[in-house]
Amino acid sequence: MKIAILSNGNANYSTKRLKEEAVGRGHEVDVIKYKYCHATIEQSNPVVRYKGDKLSGYDAIIPRIATNMTRYGSAIVRQFEMQGVFTTASSIAITRSRDKLRSIQLLARAGVGIPKTVFTRSLNDIEDLIDDMGGFPVIIKLARGTHGNGVVLAETKKAAKSVMQAFYLMDDDGTNILLQEFVKESAGEDIRAFVVGGKVIASMKRRSLDDDFRSNLHQGGEGIPIKLDEEEKKTVQKAAKAMGLSICGVDIMRSDRGPLVLEVNSSPGFGIEKVTGHNVAAQIIDYVEQNAKSPQRKDRVGA
Ligand SMILES: Nc1ncnc2c1ncn2[C@@H]1O[C@H](COP(=O)(O)OP(=O)(O)O)[C@@H](O)[C@H]1O
Ligand SMILES: [Mg+2]
Repeated sequence: MKIAILSNGNANYSTKRLKEEAVGRGHEVDVIKYKYCHATIEQSNPVVRYKGDKLSGYDAIIPRIATNMTRYGSAIVRQFEMQGVFTTASSIAITRSRDKLRSIQLLARAGVGIPKTVFTRSLNDIEDLIDDMGGFPVIIKLARGTHGNGVVLAETKKAAKSVMQAFYLMDDDGTNILLQEFVKESAGEDIRAFVVGGKVIASMKRRSLDDDFRSNLHQGGEGIPIKLDEEEKKTVQKAAKAMGLSICGVDIMRSDRGPLVLEVNSSPGFGIEKVTGHNVAAQIIDYVEQNAKSPQRKDRVGA
């Protein structure tokens, strides 16, 4: 097969591993820096060009779109979709997963546990809203992913108000701001479950090494292998389905009322391979081999 990995980082570990596994099985693989692609749109002729060449003949694309390139990256993915090329993540599912608000609305509808969340643009009723979520401390976060940087723990009403004001001011592109119940049972920890073909294939616990409440590896957290119980597995798989993603990383927190989903990542990193010893890249290439020839599954999420 001819496979394109859409990734801006050639040297990126995940990209390298995917390429290695695919080439090892005799596939032809190109790493395409999607930020340098352009798309030509005319009637019935969707074209993607890269370094002057017209890209064609791909059986599958594997998008690895960075969080700060979501709009451009997903538009390039969409252009391949218009050509009928199979993709491991649809452009619409990528876009959807990048909005935490939209994600938890869909997760809640599917009956997946989530931390209690409020979104508002007014500071007037903030105290009541926070009371309703179980009081302080409370999490305040940007609705887009920031590797933990846009996530704040506010201990008091004063702090919450000023953080929200700062966020509103800073984020003039209309990104929503979420107030969220602080899941204290797993402060500083969360679980990343890697899903391929709708099933959990590897999972790890991430925890912060200092006393940070955020467990992001980007914030200096570490990962350790962990086994999920049945309820957790079901939650993860349901979350992946609710988001329309067959391949994704689902982040959950353990709480007194069961697993709560934090977010679903449509281009999850492969650091989990090093932590768990599972060959994630091989499973993704298996998935591509098994699915690229059949028609792309329709997105049925509807939001
Ligand atoms: N409601 C919450 N309760 C407790 N900890 C949280 C909560 N939300 C986020 N965190 C912590 O902060 C980290 C980053 O939050 P997350 O929503 O995943 O943002 P990002 O997309 O920037 O990674 C999580 O991995 C988790 O450790
Ligand atoms: Mg996160």
